[in-house]
Amino acid sequence: MKRTIVAMPGDGIGRVVLEEAIRVLTAAGFEAEYPEGDIGWEFWCREGNPLPQRTIDLLEKHRIGLFGAITSKPKDAALAELDPALRDKGLVYSSPIVGLRQHFGLDICLRPCRSYKGNPLNFIRRGADGGVEEPFVDVAIFRQNTEGLYGGVEWSNPPQQVYDALMTHPKFSKNFGWCPKEEISVSTRIFTRKMTRRILVAAFEHAVKYGYKSVTVCEKPNVIRETSGMMYKMAQEIQRNEYPHIELWNTNIDAQMMWLTKNPETYSVIVAGNMFGDIVSDAFAGLIGGLGFACSAQYNPDTGVAVFEPTHGSAPKYAEYPVSIVNPVAMIESACMMLDYLGEGEISKRIRKAVALVVEEGNVRTYDMMKLTGSPDVLKSGAASTREMADAIIAHLE
Ligand code: NAI
Ligand code: MG
Repeated sequence: MKRTIVAMPGDGIGRVVLEEAIRVLTAAGFEAEYPEGDIGWEFWCREGNPLPQRTIDLLEKHRIGLFGAITSKPKDAALAELDPALRDKGLVYSSPIVGLRQHFGLDICLRPCRSYKGNPLNFIRRGADGGVEEPFVDVAIFRQNTEGLYGGVEWSNPPQQVYDALMTHPKFSKNFGWCPKEEISVSTRIFTRKMTRRILVAAFEHAVKYGYKSVTVCEKPNVIRETSGMMYKMAQEIQRNEYPHIELWNTNIDAQMMWLTKNPETYSVIVAGNMFGDIVSDAFAGLIGGLGFACSAQYNPDTGVAVFEPTHGSAPKYAEYPVSIVNPVAMIESACMMLDYLGEGEISKRIRKAVALVVEEGNVRTYDMMKLTGSPDVLKSGAASTREMADAIIAHLE
């Protein structure tokens, strides 16, 4: 069956890595068409909308998207680059990837972090005998993607009704009542039971499907009692009633950041709210090779709409290089997550195996894997280009 995948390259290196990932998909035998979805800076500058309606329609129709990366700039810079004909229309730039998440309710974000054997960027630690140990990291982080601190419900100098409502809370009046309203900024952290349940169930289901023995809720329920507390309590109920054979662990985000370099191999599935999920997934990604390796999926379990993307951004300074030097693995891994989602696990397995062989052999390495500082000269120092890395992966497909 030939599929249709909406290809949204976006800006900068997003365009390069997506092209390479599609080459790998095709070489591995995945049959699809890739209509291009316009997204990113170019469309903001030209049309005043970085996420045109036609792109939303395209994704509405085909449901599955591969996304590269976009460039975001601060408000003033955005306005300065807007087509002069559009400048006084009151348009305000907002991130199109956040826009996609909100429009399609892509509330589940999965960021797996798995070490590749032989990756020079893998985390190592000193063992008790003074020797060097390289723990095998295999963690899947489920991040609630639409609520919490990133929900956008925030004010500086809040409206009077909001201030009055806050003043009804004894801790607010006691701890903040001394401060003039004009000097207060408030960002809310809202969790709903519905979305909290969805992210928890997604985490448990993943543990069942891939044979992980535990799910860890990584929040701060002892301090943030209402939101973190609700998530952990719900996790306990869900575990007891629906997944009694999976262990439920509870870590505080701060302690987790310490333990993750001490014993990262202990963890398997981790679930967290939006902010802590963002933090803990970046931290684990650092143990397996960083931005060149960090991939992600975002989906809505009700509608099935899903977008797969590397964690990295558009790295504008590298986008101008005549020969691209960035690592395409994060994008290729994201494409593998898409294959898993579509039930094409046989193809994703072959691609991951090819990546594993290339990494382990160590003959073809992008500049990040050689621990070089990015510059056009890295190619002269023996680093592979983006294309060469993808070619090597294709050559290793069985
Ligand atoms: P970035 O992720 O684009 O780049 C940071 C640094 O990471 C790069 O300078 C490079 O050293 C390294 N890097 C990134 N991708 C790499 C790869 N594939 N291989 C090797 N090294 C890689 O983040 P930055 O510089 O903070 O942001 C650049 C632009 O990207 C900004 O406009 C930002 O708003 C946007 N951005 C977009 C994201 C998205 O589309 N989801 C996510 C993060 C940033
Ligand atoms: Mg992040």
